[in-house]
This record gives sequence, structure tokens and C-alpha cells, in this order.
Amino acid sequence: MKIAILGGTGHIGKGFALRLSYKHEVTIGSRNIEKAKASAAEYNEILEKHGSNDRIEGTDNKTAAQNADIVFLTIRYENIPSVIDLITPVLDKQIIVSVVVPMARDRCYIHPDSSPLKIDVSKEEYNANYFCYTTPKAGSAAQEIAMLLPEGIEFVSAFHNVPAHTLADLDAELDYDIGVCGNSTYSKNIVFELARDIPYLRPLDVGPLETSAMVEALTPLVINIASRNKLKDIGIKFV
Ligand SMILES: NC(=O)c1ccc[n+]([C@@H]2O[C@H](COP(=O)([O-])OP(=O)(O)OC[C@H]3O[C@@H](n4cnc5c(N)ncnc54)[C@H](OP(=O)(O)O)[C@@H]3O)[C@@H](O)[C@H]2O)c1
Repeated sequence: MKIAILGGTGHIGKGFALRLSYKHEVTIGSRNIEKAKASAAEYNEILEKHGSNDRIEGTDNKTAAQNADIVFLTIRYENIPSVIDLITPVLDKQIIVSVVVPMARDRCYIHPDSSPLKIDVSKEEYNANYFCYTTPKAGSAAQEIAMLLPEGIEFVSAFHNVPAHTLADLDAELDYDIGVCGNSTYSKNIVFELARDIPYLRPLDVGPLETSAMVEALTPLVINIASRNKLKDIGIKFV
């Protein structure tokens, strides 16, 4: 399949590009075509060092989305509206996959209008340096994105809890579970197969799109546990 990774020059996009290139035609998208080409060249060097002849292409986000069967949104929550706006004219039969997790550092609040919760202790006492899930108005990033996408576009929310560093390390075994949320069995099954194309990942059906908040919110939990307990590259595994 043809896979576009929008924001594929970033941390998590790199891992998806590298890992999926073994079974699929991968193009990374960027706001800047030269940046996309430079990242693609860097990723191709990594593939070459790992004995792969597969090649990743780089182009602008809109062209990447236009020519793809599957479009990964690997950009931050706050940048979603402008990117959806940009690609909407070229969306047709593509399946959109969101890995987006809205979160904030050292404060927990409901996104975007309410104030941070009041904390009556100094930052030091409170032991700052943690992340919170910032619940979007619609309930989750996935539900916000679904409202922005044109009607009829297939959409799945998945892969939120995979650490970028491990995903991009082709020598690392990814012994993680992947929660998959969506309203269409057809597109969820395709995303299940994509997850299985990455060795050791196990996709699990979580439910319809409105269950995505639960999976998205696991990401700050995992990051906090990792950083506060000096655990590296941990993810989610259901046993
Ligand atoms: N990092 C992780 O471990 C991880 C794990 C699971 C899920 N996620 C989710 O994946 C998404 C990306 O995370 P990340 O850590 O990869 O982010 P990132 O590296 O900070 O950014 C990804 C890309 O977004 C693009 N970008 C930056 N500003 C933009 C703007 N104003 N408009 C459009 N595009 C913009 C940049 O690409 P160009 O400059 O090339 O356009 C950048 O390379 C987030 O939603 C995050 O919650 C991350």
C-alpha cells in the first residue's frame, strides 16, 4: 500500500516511515519539501545500513496525502486543524490514521478553555516534571479530528503509546500492544494489518472512536512512569 506520513520529519514519524517501509511504499510529508527530502535521505541511509533496499520518498504534506492509500497524522494536536485544512481538497478514498495525543507538561486541565487546576504548593513541593492528558472539547483528539474531516472519510485512531525512540530503532523488538479505535470495521482491519506488519506489535480492538480518549490518555501515564522511575522506552502490554 502507499502510505503517507504527514509530519514524517518528526520523532514518531521517523519510526513509522522506517518500520512500514519494509512492506509498503512510504512517503513522508512536511510543510517544507526540502526538509522532507533531507529526512527521507537520512532514513534511507538507515535502511541501507540495515540491508534494506526499500526507499522512502519525501514531499509536501498535501502531495503525500493525495497519492496515498493510508495517511498517518504524526503531528502535534495543536497543528491538526491547519494540516486537515490543507489536505481536505485531496481526500477521497484514503484511510486517515491518528496517533495524536493532546498533553501538557506540569499542569492538568480540560482543553482548551478551562484554566489549569489550582495547585496550592510550590512547584518543588509538588515535584513538577510530569505530563497530563489535556482532554479536548470533543472528548479526545480522535473525536476532534473526526469532526474536522470531510464526511465519509475513513478514520482510525491507533499507535498512541509506542515510544518514538524505540520505533525508530530498527534493532529494537517492539513488544507492545497497539490499541485501535474506530467506527469502521473495514478501516480498522487494514490498520490491524499495518500493525502486524511491524514485528512484535500486537493490535487490539479497543472499540469505536469515542473510546480513543482512554488509549490516548495512557501515553502521558507511560511517559511519567518512565521518567520518574528511570525506565527506558516502556509501552503498553496487556497480560
Ligand atoms: N514522540 C512520541 O514518542 C509519540 C508517541 C505516540 C504518539 N505521538 C504523537 O505523535 C504526534 C507527533 O509527535 P512528535 O513527537 O513526532 O512531534 P514533533 O517531532 O514535535 O513534530 C512532528 C512534525 O510536525 C511538523 N510540524 C511542526 N509544527 C507544525 C505546524 N505548525 N503545522 C504543521 N506541522 C507542523 C514538523 O514537520 P515539518 O517541519 O517537516 O512540517 C514536525 O517534524 C503528536 O501528536 C504526539 O502526541 C508521539
